[in-house]
Amino acid sequence: MTKLDDSANRAMQDDISAESVRRLCDLSGKTAYITGGGGGLGSAIAWGFAHAGADIVLLDKQAEAIEELAGLMSTQTRRKVIALPVDIAQEESVEAALQTARQAVGECDVLVNGAGHNIRKPLVDFSVDEFNSLYAVHVQGAFLTCRTVGARMRERRSGSIINITSITAHVGIENVSAYASAKGALLQMTKTLALEMAPWNVRVNAISPGYIETPLTLQHAPEVRERVARDTPMGRMGRPSEIIGPALFLASESASFVTGASLVVDGGWTAV
Ligand SMILES: NC(=O)c1ccc[n+]([C@@H]2O[C@H](COP(=O)([O-])OP(=O)(O)OC[C@H]3O[C@@H](n4cnc5c(N)ncnc54)[C@H](O)[C@@H]3O)[C@@H](O)[C@H]2O)c1
Repeated sequence: MTKLDDSANRAMQDDISAESVRRLCDLSGKTAYITGGGGGLGSAIAWGFAHAGADIVLLDKQAEAIEELAGLMSTQTRRKVIALPVDIAQEESVEAALQTARQAVGECDVLVNGAGHNIRKPLVDFSVDEFNSLYAVHVQGAFLTCRTVGARMRERRSGSIINITSITAHVGIENVSAYASAKGALLQMTKTLALEMAPWNVRVNAISPGYIETPLTLQHAPEVRERVARDTPMGRMGRPSEIIGPALFLASESASFVTGASLVVDGGWTAV
């Protein structure tokens, strides 16, 4: 038998067919819970997942906005989409929302932790409350959802968790010390949880976006956004829709052997 025959045989045994490849990004029959689902990146991911066949739970503090978005998304994608107001920084609020989600839509197959805000100024000007508010959302918020949803995923021996970190978890950027250190903590939580969950077939990964045009970065003055675009090797900021592919990859069978990874989506910013 030739070497070519050997590899061809292995491929057949592993069921590489046109149908299995087409299904790689299919989320039919899955349910995704998305915190920050009313925001720029969270809503883009929700649209992407719904178009890929998933039912969606939008979790966000903007109650009216997610209610409206859920109606629109449900009509256009013909998926079940519900909106649940939550303050991700508050344990009782998170627990209540997750319980309602489970009763209304079912168990979570894909959890995306995308809720977040930023406070930009030099470290020496931060109050303790401002500092803590960033940790309460980015670190404790993700801890709360990962703990409750992760426990169910472990029981069911299946699931994918995606934590939205940031390039600030990888490189130094001035005036975001609290945000950046919280994102660094979230990245480390991602890796540690990935190890804890791996034996139960639950995958835990991070997406680290660079500068993407969302309400969060529209807070920057136009000249700052222009500088950011110039400093990005691809010469522009990212679009929210450009987060869909990376999120779908990590959520789906495409990434069935990927855990503990951080997928940087930054137009080359951290490659410099
Ligand atoms: N846009 C970027 O360039 C960029 C870059 C790196 C990382 N990120 C991260 O991506 C995630 C999404 O950011 P975005 O750009 O879509 O911002 P966004 O402001 O458009 O969306 C964030 C969403 O989180 C929600 N939220 C904030 N605090 C909350 C709380 N306590 N409880 C519930 N919901 C809360 C907001 O209501 C909002 O809908 C954030 O974690 C952010 O830090 C964004």
